[in-house]
Amino acid sequence: MELNVEEIKNLLKKVKYPGFTRDIVSFGIVKNIQIDGSKVRLWLVLPKPDERLESEIRESVRKTLLEYPGISEVNFEITAREPKYGPTQTRAPEKPALPDIKYYIAVASGKGGVGKSTVAVNLALAISKMRKNVGLMDADIWGPSIHIMMGIKARPKATPEQKIIPLEKHGLKLMSIGFLIDEDETVIWRGPMVHGAVKQFIEDVEWRGTDYLVIDLPPGTGDAQLSLMQTVPLSGGVIVTTPQEVALVDVRRGINMFRKLNVPVLGIVENMSYMVCPHCGYELDIFSRGGGEKMAERFKVPFLGAVPIDPEIRKGGDEGTPIVISNPQSPSAKAFMQIAEKILKAIEHSE
Ligand SMILES: Nc1ncnc2c1ncn2[C@@H]1O[C@H](COP(=O)(O)OP(=O)(O)OP(=O)(O)O)[C@@H](O)[C@H]1O
Ligand SMILES: [Mg+2]
Repeated sequence: MELNVEEIKNLLKKVKYPGFTRDIVSFGIVKNIQIDGSKVRLWLVLPKPDERLESEIRESVRKTLLEYPGISEVNFEITAREPKYGPTQTRAPEKPALPDIKYYIAVASGKGGVGKSTVAVNLALAISKMRKNVGLMDADIWGPSIHIMMGIKARPKATPEQKIIPLEKHGLKLMSIGFLIDEDETVIWRGPMVHGAVKQFIEDVEWRGTDYLVIDLPPGTGDAQLSLMQTVPLSGGVIVTTPQEVALVDVRRGINMFRKLNVPVLGIVENMSYMVCPHCGYELDIFSRGGGEKMAERFKVPFLGAVPIDPEIRKGGDEGTPIVISNPQSPSAKAFMQIAEKILKAIEHSE
């Protein structure tokens, strides 16, 4: 019988946080669980460095897990919340490779054209209405669109240390390969470059001061997407879909992709869900509204919300003023705000 992450998580729920009646999972200190045969590797993040707390937790986790049949070894990576390191880094790297961004939120979709970039842009703007220091990174290196959706024509400058300074608009810090190349230019990404591209977009860009970074991934859930994400300690992943039954397979792939990386699936967004009649407000179900919610139930992941088909969304995207900015009172903008609220609750709660 192969071990799985859920099983380990359930066992860890039996371990109390020293001095509290709550368990370490609900406390949010378990950031990553990796399984290699019968060996379990845990990444725990404590609120502050504390050797005694650390050894108490180590001991009780070991005791609980080693009693379980099938677990032969438990290894730990224990870090303190500030500064934040990735799971594969050592406890005190000389210089943290990644800037101190608190939350990385990836937006993915099983296939192209479902509105992933639209969701990423409006989500980032919605988050920035509720929180400070929000950034948006276009990781769709083959088909960048954030520069168009945000209406940016300028090119970024560099710091004296040769870091790219993100452009700013509507209060967001922004980076897209679209800022660096001409519209009709194609960049040919070779395998190894793809692997490092997102890492570079994070390391070589001056993100300092950014707390929330929304990442628009390229459409699809294959190796390229996986490879892009491997270098970033994602806080969670959002999957965008349209409601039709045929999208089910794509959603499953999206969920599997995040799970492979042990990235929590924050939930599903159903885009182009229904249409609101501009005259009478009647909500017309063009496709099979509710499909996204059913998929969420089926895969046991949260349903984050439904965004209607709205000509204003398309117009906002084409003209560079996303709907959350151009018409915050519209049903679509409100839908994005609610989705953002749910996401914030999920990621901040897991701290
Ligand atoms: N809810 C919506 N209502 C109306 N138009 C929408 C909606 N969502 C997205 N669109 C439009 O659909 C088109 C595709 O959206 P978008 O570019 O966000 O999709 P994508 O999944 O990022 O696509 P790609 O695979 O090309 O990256 C755009 O023209 C966008 O303005
Ligand atoms: Mg896109």
